[in-house]
Amino acid sequence: MLRPPIWKSVVELENRNGILHVDGCSVEELADVFGTPLYVYSRNRLVSNYRRLVNAYRRHYPKFQVYYAVKANNNPAVVKVLADEGAGADASCLSEILIAQRAGIPVDKILYSGVYNHTRDLHYAVDNGFRLNLEDISQIERLVTVPKALCFRINPGVGLGGAEGLVFAGPDAKFGIPDRDIEQAYRMAQQLGVERFGIHMMTGSNILSPDYFEAIVAKLLDIAGPISQRLGIRFDFIDIGGSLGVPYRPEQDELDIDDVARRVTNKLREKLDLYDMGEPDLIHEPGRYLVCDAGILLTRVTSIKKGYKKFIGLDAGMNTLLRPALYGAYHHILYANQLNALPDDQVNFVGQICENSDIFAKDLPFSSQLTVDDLLGLLNVGAYGFCMSSQYNSQPRAAEVMVDSGKATLIRERETFDDLVKGTIM
Ligand code: LLP
Repeated sequence: MLRPPIWKSVVELENRNGILHVDGCSVEELADVFGTPLYVYSRNRLVSNYRRLVNAYRRHYPKFQVYYAVKANNNPAVVKVLADEGAGADASCLSEILIAQRAGIPVDKILYSGVYNHTRDLHYAVDNGFRLNLEDISQIERLVTVPKALCFRINPGVGLGGAEGLVFAGPDAKFGIPDRDIEQAYRMAQQLGVERFGIHMMTGSNILSPDYFEAIVAKLLDIAGPISQRLGIRFDFIDIGGSLGVPYRPEQDELDIDDVARRVTNKLREKLDLYDMGEPDLIHEPGRYLVCDAGILLTRVTSIKKGYKKFIGLDAGMNTLLRPALYGAYHHILYANQLNALPDDQVNFVGQICENSDIFAKDLPFSSQLTVDDLLGLLNVGAYGFCMSSQYNSQPRAAEVMVDSGKATLIRERETFDDLVKGTIM
């Protein structure tokens, strides 16, 4: 039976007489009212993910802040739920800055961490008082106005990620300032007249090992400490990036966030004492941890085909959820309107796109009780789901719905043919 721990631990997902309910809403009703494919987000899950993280850290280190990585899910309604809880934002571009602001996040709690920034964007960020995180030393010279505060993103030369495409540091990673240039970066900023500083590291994504987070804070402080002593600068904040992983596969364990928080803050205090660095803010900027398991993708079976193998065709594909095609990522699939059906077959789940990489899963168990028009639910799609979707093969994008204790609200309309041709000129 497909009832693995990964979805049982998400209390907002329930089996009511064989019908999946998300935050009190029946998936059958959601699909009937809003159509499929449909992204569904549980408001209560977003809130509990945020609170679990904040409580775990603040118990040990009161100056802990969460800056939500807007890129993980940029729906303004999702960002607003987290903003209302008190989250700041990690924004990778100007549009994400605007989304964060629109959600009510104050200017001084938005960190602009663009990569390979356009000069125009750097100026906008400085002129409007956003915190700036630079990942390239050459950009310092392109600042016209002196920013109030400046942070640098470090590439420590090694990285780790939950998949090959999710490693963001090391010699082959395009991100960050290498070890050898870091002191020079702070020196240049000091000479420019910058008075307040931060330091940042983001070396990989979807990590399920607490050891990693302890190691990352040690590494960052061993870089920041000597700089602070040699240049006589005080760091206002230490930003350890996102990276907190979630279990996608039934056999994976959840990250023990209390353990992570205890170990990170112990190590942080030890290093702050060692280098006499006072008590800066500790910033975590997770995307996935906050939103991933709050989202499921509802899709209908469009056809069942017996080729050389058996293929279950769905109305969602790589255009709707790119992660399987891009990273070979696994998303667990539930028989959403027949949760108690027992698998007795093996199939490939595929979408409607004319690419053979348009496949969600290969040789997975399936129940022959399911037929065309039945509903499937793909788990863990709240992060890097809709925001990485496309209109490839002229497919309008899916709709998004927020559910909250039995009430469903449309938070993004399904695209139509008009959206596909909008702005085109013939
Ligand atoms: N901060 C920075 C500077 C980042 O670049 C990212 C993610 C985050 C925070 C949030 O990382 P998280 O907590 O989600 O690990 N598309 C990939 C993930 C790419 C992450 C990019 N940067 C995926 O679907 O798994």
